[in-house]
Amino acid sequence: MPVPGNIANSISQIIERHQLISDQMDQERLALILKRLDQALEHHIPGDIVEFGCYLGTTSLFIARLLAVAATTRRFHVYDSFEGLPGKTIEDASVAGSNFRAGELKASKRQLVRNFKHAHLKPPLIHKAWFNELKSKDLPNQIAFAFIDSDFYRSIYGSLEIVWPRLSSGGAVIVDDYNRSSLPGATRAVNDFFTVSNVRIQHQSNLAIITKP
Ligand SMILES: C[S@@+](CC[C@H](N)C(=O)[O-])C[C@H]1O[C@@H](n2cnc3c(N)ncnc32)[C@H](O)[C@@H]1O
Repeated sequence: MPVPGNIANSISQIIERHQLISDQMDQERLALILKRLDQALEHHIPGDIVEFGCYLGTTSLFIARLLAVAATTRRFHVYDSFEGLPGKTIEDASVAGSNFRAGELKASKRQLVRNFKHAHLKPPLIHKAWFNELKSKDLPNQIAFAFIDSDFYRSIYGSLEIVWPRLSSGGAVIVDDYNRSSLPGATRAVNDFFTVSNVRIQHQSNLAIITKP
């Protein structure tokens, strides 16, 4: 059985020892994501771990490393079109984000698996699909922790519609690109989704961190 304090200590070691394989994540955000994931594990929040928008696995590799240290039997699911970004909607329009276009950030499932093999890590359960085409059989019934990193309004709103009803009480969802001027759809999707609920949106380093009451 791992000692919880040791897992928390090992987050900084994991981040220091391993390189980020793309510019899609940085050490500051990674530390926040892993810390919140660790809390869900330490508090025995029931459910699986999910990531919506995994690309090459930059963040997924670190999530898998933490899960390996924690020696948990929880499953780790990653979801991606592996076709890159879909088209923008009006909510995503911004001058600063003109480089984010349909088809950008395209990785293949094979590249993702190769990155896990190279890191000597067990690959996650990989689901190749557009989020709005996912069936309930592709999704865990219970989620303890979710990381949503899918850039655009409809992708993020749709991911929240999938995650929130399945998220266990005390579990957390983290959405990347909150308050980032180049991707305004991310902030709008989070604010619109939670507009009628009483939850607190904690905002740190372009991450929105929401804990389920
Ligand atoms: C910013 S990248 C993810 C970066 C990744 N989390 C990392 O740490 O490297 C965004 C990803 O979301 C995927 N994506 C965006 N919208 C999607 C949708 N509606 N359905 C499926 N995949 C989507 C894209 O294919 C892309 O790989």
